[in-house]
Amino acid sequence: PAERIPVICIDGPTASGKGTLAAEVASTLGYHLLDSGALYRLVGLAAEREGLSTTEADLRDPAHAERMGELAARLDVRFTPGKTWLEGEDVTEALRAEAAGMAASRVSAVPQVRAALLDLQLNFRHLPGLVADGRDMGTVIFPGAPLKVYLTASAEQRALRRHKQLISKGIPAILADLLADLQARDARDMNRTHAPLKPAEDAVLLDNSHLDIEQSVARVLDWWHGKQAFP
Ligand code: DC
Repeated sequence: PAERIPVICIDGPTASGKGTLAAEVASTLGYHLLDSGALYRLVGLAAEREGLSTTEADLRDPAHAERMGELAARLDVRFTPGKTWLEGEDVTEALRAEAAGMAASRVSAVPQVRAALLDLQLNFRHLPGLVADGRDMGTVIFPGAPLKVYLTASAEQRALRRHKQLISKGIPAILADLLADLQARDARDMNRTHAPLKPAEDAVLLDNSHLDIEQSVARVLDWWHGKQAFP
């Protein structure tokens, strides 16, 4: 049964380095990878392409929320190594844009959207195991997972990292704006009614403000091997 297939959950706020950490841990262990944020980003992108509004005001209308849920349920998405396809089009780059993250945060507060994406997420659980990154992996999607990591870093550290990342790609960015956006996104993700971002009761906390990626990976692998030795 699927419940026996090991899952490592990595949840945390935006720009905490979850994505990189999850990918490194998955590749070290030879596990599958679920980037659940990409699914919410895909819903935002698909909505934009269909001309369906993703503003908070419009999403408060129950009929509009219903339509967004229907869109999420018929999402035509395909994942290939390192690439994501929406209706046959490569949207890997488009998904990473700041605007896509903000739209994802807004549509992800809609319960119909979360429900529509549930099975899609559960289907990533295959042998030999799964590393799942998101906001509610440990609290809602894989509550029985043997290892749940809640990753944090100060908002300032996260804004600095995001700034460096954008500048290194030649994308102009203003640190103060990034910090403000990130705090707005944190607040929305933590304060929503459905599946808010918070550590699972049995999560281990990892503050990576002063750790580099290798150190963070090593920490998670240590915890994982500890679980194997003393389940
Ligand atoms: O991890 P990310 O930045 O790609 O996520 C984008 C948005 O999607 C995030 O601000 C909130 C939402 N999200 C969610 O609600 N639940 C998840 N498991 C993952 C992401």
